[in-house]
Amino acid sequence: MTILVRRLLLASVAAVGVMSIVSCAANTVYADDNESKVNHASFNDDGSVAQPVNWRRWVFVGAPLTPNALNGGNAPFPEYHNVYVEPSAFEAYAATGKWPEGTQIAKELTTIYENNNDAVGASTEVSGRGFQQGEFSGLELTVKDSTRFPDMPGGWAYFSFGHKPQPYEESAKAFPAESCNACHAASAADDFVFTQFYPVLRAAKGSM
Ligand code: HEC
Repeated sequence: MTILVRRLLLASVAAVGVMSIVSCAANTVYADDNESKVNHASFNDDGSVAQPVNWRRWVFVGAPLTPNALNGGNAPFPEYHNVYVEPSAFEAYAATGKWPEGTQIAKELTTIYENNNDAVGASTEVSGRGFQQGEFSGLELTVKDSTRFPDMPGGWAYFSFGHKPQPYEESAKAFPAESCNACHAASAADDFVFTQFYPVLRAAKGSM
């Protein structure tokens, strides 16, 4: 091997080394510095949280469905549950596999589309017999902030801006832990979040 070839080889090895350090740094940024990279919710002086801004542009991760017709006419969370993760929290979860401090997850409810619905609440459309989304019918939010909510297991606080058509409430107070947090603690797959129902999150977790 000539000296020139050897020098070229060494230079390219060094270049690859630098590139991998740079890309590694980019990938681990959330692990080193979670809190400053994650957008936090806005809280009012009375401790209530402000309605999030533009949650429908967050990362949409799933739409569990509990039709009223399958729940005695009155599902606890009627009916579609559209779940959106605030994008900076999603990126951190993808990078580290953990929900960072500051995580915000919104759940917006919609009714099912009404069109000659049958006994199970299904309608028959050009796509077949089944369920489609109708109108917005409520908004909830969970926030992970163990500094602000030291008494909430896992630091997760839960809020509702109303189970009703828009406009939703502008702000909401955290529910006591037994109202919401306890069921999430008992049944959710990953740190109080029901990732068992969200393939998008299972695929993203630690994938960066
Ligand atoms: C009996 C169990 C139970 C209770 C009580 C409960 N939840 Fe949930 N929650 C769920 C399930 C199951 C999901 C998964 C998605 C779905 O089906 O809505 C969920 C999902 C959520 C999500 C989306 C993030 C996630 O963890 O998947 C939010 C936000 C949420 N719930 C808010 C609330 C609020 C606010 C309350 C209290 C008023 C509450 N929950 C009470 C069972 C519960």
